[in-house]
Formats: sequence, C-alpha cells, structure tokens
Amino acid sequence: MPSLVVVNREGEERTVEVETGLSVMEAIRDNGFDELLALCGGCCSCATCHVYVDESFSAKLPAMSEDEDDLLDSSDHREGNSRLSCQIPITDDMAGMKVTIAPED
Ligand code: FES
Repeated sequence: MPSLVVVNREGEERTVEVETGLSVMEAIRDNGFDELLALCGGCCSCATCHVYVDESFSAKLPAMSEDEDDLLDSSDHREGNSRLSCQIPITDDMAGMKVTIAPED
C-alpha cells in the first residue's frame, strides 16, 4: 500500500496509507480532510478537488484531459503543478508523493 503526504490549507502535513486504484481525491477525502469538497464526486465537473502535486512526480501522473485543463483554468489559484485530484488514480510508483490542497476558489 503506497502512502501519500497530504498538506492541508493550514500547511500541516500528514502521511496517509492509500489503496491503489482509488483516486487521489478519494484517498484524501477518506482520510478525513473535509476541506477537499470534491462536490461532483469525481466526475471532473467541479474543480473543488484542486491540489498541487509534488513536481518530482509529474512524470508519473496521467496526462491531463481537455476537461480537466478547462476546469483548472477557472481557478484563481492555478499553478504549474495544479491537478484535479479525482483525475489521478493512485499507482504504486506514487509512494511518498506530496499533494497540497489548493486554496478555495
Ligand atoms: S471532484 Fe469534482 S472535479 Fe474532481
């Protein structure tokens, strides 16, 4: 079971064990970070699951779809390492990846 390091909006870090196959959004939400609203439940239509992903893992992430790109563009807090966490299925090679919950839009 890989682990992820999740950083909340207060800057506090917590390492959580996660199951492969879940999305990063589900893993964060299931570990009690209720500030990640994920309002659409993972359908790539709300952008409330916005996170910043550790840039050293960017090559391990799936390619971004046009829908994800468009939604991220609607955020005032988009950065070069922004992703929608519901669009990232967890794989074993993401062990130790740090994801930071983006500020609320
Ligand atoms: S949960 Fe809505 S876009 Fe990710």
